[in-house]
Amino acid sequence: MRELKILAVLIFFVGLTYWGVEPYAHHVMHPEVTPADFTFKDLPKQALSGDAAKGKELAAAQCVTCHSINKEGLKLAMSDADAANTYGVVPPDLSNVAAIYDHNFLANFIQNPEGTVKAKAGKYAMPNLGIGAEDAAHLVAYFDSIANKNLTAKQITDEACVRCHSIKYEGTPRLAVSDARIKEYMGSFPPDLSQMIKSKGAHYLDGFINDPQKLLHGTAMPRVGLTKDAQEKVIAHLEKVGDPKKDERNSLALWILGYFAVLTVLTYLWKVSKFKEIH
Ligand code: HEC
Ligand code: HEC
Repeated sequence: MRELKILAVLIFFVGLTYWGVEPYAHHVMHPEVTPADFTFKDLPKQALSGDAAKGKELAAAQCVTCHSINKEGLKLAMSDADAANTYGVVPPDLSNVAAIYDHNFLANFIQNPEGTVKAKAGKYAMPNLGIGAEDAAHLVAYFDSIANKNLTAKQITDEACVRCHSIKYEGTPRLAVSDARIKEYMGSFPPDLSQMIKSKGAHYLDGFINDPQKLLHGTAMPRVGLTKDAQEKVIAHLEKVGDPKKDERNSLALWILGYFAVLTVLTYLWKVSKFKEIH
């Protein structure tokens, strides 16, 4: 009985210390991380009831000067290398944009690229094309009609991040543009993403991708505008690349805990039998 009381007191104080220290350490290591906002509530609400056929005409007239739409056989006239040199990055292929970007974000972006991604004034290579809300809705309807809704986590990551970032551990280089050119365009070099999951953690990435300025004030990285589902897949993919042994480690931890539990029981039984001999 006495042992049990001592054990209870011990558990109480260890628990108290843990709860006193852990939230504090967490607070210090992850300052002011507010959760990601996948409704992008700072952006005006769009009607989003467009006509895909009208959107198709608009895209052919307004977007294909800078972007490919491979799914429709529309290929940008210049090479990736030339596009990268001209703009600072290769403008992304538009076939699947409606599968990865939030639609309200996308409609706002088409009307006001720089403001929607929160880029520094004059620093975003896609100009404001003077497209109104109604045409933006047609374009979103069109992109939605052609998008592949079953992209893999790797495909989403490639479409959303790889025009600026390399992922060297899986052999993915940055698209076409030289280190010097992208640094000149962005004003800051986009780091390799292979080990980000370890250095920053999933929680930070979740907030950062959704709204970089919120976590790194004045950063050169634009807001990406991914849906919750697409962003979860990107983070899962970075986890797979940067921390491929995580599942193994977690299951190993269970075995180790089990081992200690068995050991505790055996030790206790041994002690009981020894004390019997003494008394
Ligand atoms: C003058 C060239 C140009 C034109 C015209 C243009 N874009 Fe872009 N667009 C770009 C460039 C360059 C980028 C990449 C900018 C960056 O990542 O810094 C881009 C990026 C994008 C993105 C990615 C947004 C994100 O959140 O990452 C989408 C979506 C897009 N454009 C859609 C369109 C659509 C739709 C049209 C036609 C209505 C269009 N663009 C017309 C140059 C252009
Ligand atoms: C248009 C270019 C561009 C795109 C697209 C882009 N990034 Fe970045 N990213 C940058 C730049 C530039 C930096 C460096 C920022 C700085 O130094 O201020 C950066 C920095 C980062 C960092 C480091 C943040 C830190 O705290 O140091 C992470 C993590 C990151 N990006 C993840 C992503 C992911 C994931 C995606 C795709 C979902 C993505 N980025 C898409 C340009 C981009």
